[in-house]
Amino acid sequence: MTDHRMHAFRRRIGGLAYGGDYNPEQWRPEIWREDVRLMREAGVNLVSLGVFAWASLEPEPGKYEFGWLDEVMDLLHKNGIGVNLATPTAAPPVWLTHKHPEVFPVMADGRRFGFGNRLHYDPSSPIYREYAAAITTRLAERYSYHPALVMWHISNEYGPTAYNEAASVNFRLWLRRRYGDLQALNDAWSTRFWGQVYTGWDQIAVPEHPRTWMNPSRILDFKRFTSDALLECYIAERDIVRSYRTDIPVLTNFMRFYRNADYWRWAEEEDAAALDIYPDPADPGSHVPAAFQFDLFRSLKGGRPWLLMEQAASAVSQWKLNVVKEPGRMRLGSLQAVSRGADSVMFFQWRAGRGGQERFHSAMLPHSGPDSRTFREVADLGREVRLLSPVAGTTSRAGIAVLFDWNGWWGLEEVAGLPRNDFSYPETVMRHYTPLWEHHHAVDVVSPRSDLNPYKVLVVPNAYLIDDEGAEAVTAFARAGGTVLMSFFSGVVDACNRVRPDGYPGAFRRLIGAKIDEYWPARPGEEFAVRFSGGRTATASWWREDIHLETGTALATYTDGLLAGRAAVVANSFGSGRVVYFATLLNDDAFAATVLEEVRAAGVRSRFEGLPAHLECTVREDERHEYLFLLNHSADLTATVPLTGEGTDLLTGTPVTGEVTVAPLGAAVIQRAR
Ligand code: GAL
Repeated sequence: MTDHRMHAFRRRIGGLAYGGDYNPEQWRPEIWREDVRLMREAGVNLVSLGVFAWASLEPEPGKYEFGWLDEVMDLLHKNGIGVNLATPTAAPPVWLTHKHPEVFPVMADGRRFGFGNRLHYDPSSPIYREYAAAITTRLAERYSYHPALVMWHISNEYGPTAYNEAASVNFRLWLRRRYGDLQALNDAWSTRFWGQVYTGWDQIAVPEHPRTWMNPSRILDFKRFTSDALLECYIAERDIVRSYRTDIPVLTNFMRFYRNADYWRWAEEEDAAALDIYPDPADPGSHVPAAFQFDLFRSLKGGRPWLLMEQAASAVSQWKLNVVKEPGRMRLGSLQAVSRGADSVMFFQWRAGRGGQERFHSAMLPHSGPDSRTFREVADLGREVRLLSPVAGTTSRAGIAVLFDWNGWWGLEEVAGLPRNDFSYPETVMRHYTPLWEHHHAVDVVSPRSDLNPYKVLVVPNAYLIDDEGAEAVTAFARAGGTVLMSFFSGVVDACNRVRPDGYPGAFRRLIGAKIDEYWPARPGEEFAVRFSGGRTATASWWREDIHLETGTALATYTDGLLAGRAAVVANSFGSGRVVYFATLLNDDAFAATVLEEVRAAGVRSRFEGLPAHLECTVREDERHEYLFLLNHSADLTATVPLTGEGTDLLTGTPVTGEVTVAPLGAAVIQRAR
């Protein structure tokens, strides 16, 4: 059904979606008419409407004002623009919080949020849920069959964590469902430690402000619970709109590297994954983590096209210094998303606001109006997006998978008491992804539950916490002939955050063919010399392990320090596969070289081997065509790509044979028959 709904969506949109958040409630009706005229000029075919409009739709409890929305929906429809209609529940109106202040989320330290922002709700609050359901129902009743409606956008960027009494009540229910009886919960949380044993369910609360450290298993379950409590809100609204009409896709918008919601779990409940992303234009390398996010979002629904729901046309406004996207950068970032599977290019927002917190956030239509650099770039891109419509619905293939797991993230970062407490999961993931990106390898992102059959190489960055099923999936992958590249401090604890028995690295001792006696985090500034068996030298820092080989062999050993002569990198044959375990943090070049050698040995080749890193190269395909995306991120260097056979550059409409030259900050999208 999901595929069917998205297929119908693409048909109605006519290819890739182009547009942004549209907030007409902030403007006079004369402006709406100018908006639609300029939207057409810019090639807009989809807007996300009413995202924060609750106060305008329901100015008093139960008193609805839909007239303005009727008019805007009609106007958009008349102008051929589809509507991604939002439920406005990310911004509860002041009358609601005034009447029911218990809806405001309480923070871990006991302070309660106040009014004047957004996302000021406790997702467990029955009152919030009741009012959210009411406005959602009214919208669904009224607009489900409006001809402009092409998609439902449920709420916005689900995220608040709440420590309210209602959250405690809901947490207890969640725990009862998970554990069944108190004995199981006491075991899971190791409550004999520091005498935390529970004798009644009503004694359990959300982990609000402890005297010192909080029980690590309780925190972990609270993270899972928070993700699920938010998801319950999403599902409740989704089910309401779906009960009126089943053939319209329903989704919500996610954020980049967002820790509070397990997006693997969420994506199962959506028709497509959608991402809001704001790479810092001041960071010249920000397109690399963006590429990872795009790969993740494509992977969240098993390789299906995803939607770029929000990005900035130029500067954002939330940092201390908000630099502009230089000419060409917005286009390049947009094409980058499409190159990695996005079927849309959308912005926050259509028209720059005059007031409010984000009045200096750029927009498709900036304060300076249509006669502006940004609007010209937006309109040019709108034309190009239309030219790329054959790409809509196409997918891609990869031989390498990178494991990305929210439970592992929470285990590594949420809890004190680890041998070192400054792990950054996004950083370690990026460290593993970057050399693959630089060498143009197609990479999918996987969860411990994903199908690993399509891959030859599985990269496992610091998987400290992994459940039995996930550990077995990684192990089975190697047994069946895959190559596993795993980093230190993996497989240590079970799903309850309890250290696995029989020595580290519990879940993976047989897989890596070694036992670790102790983890030896390095002191600040400490570096150690390492030599690979082939003679290459490297440096190690940050982390070492007192490792004892069992079936594994040393691929590299320390040549100094107390662990001199011991393995720093282990290789092990396991079943029909191979495992390489990095027991330390190698310097970037040595790490990259080892990863790339192993990838090559596993039989994975990039078809863009040898091309410079600043030229990002990816492929989308369907049964008949492939589309080569060539994106030059350098502002100074041109890049030339040899081509076998012939194709057509969709952006220029010109045939290409022999080679393609891509100008600085330029792009080419070559369509070729397969
Ligand atoms: C997003 C949010 C938008 C807007 C944008 C720009 O995270 O969904 O409403 O605030 O950021 O900051």
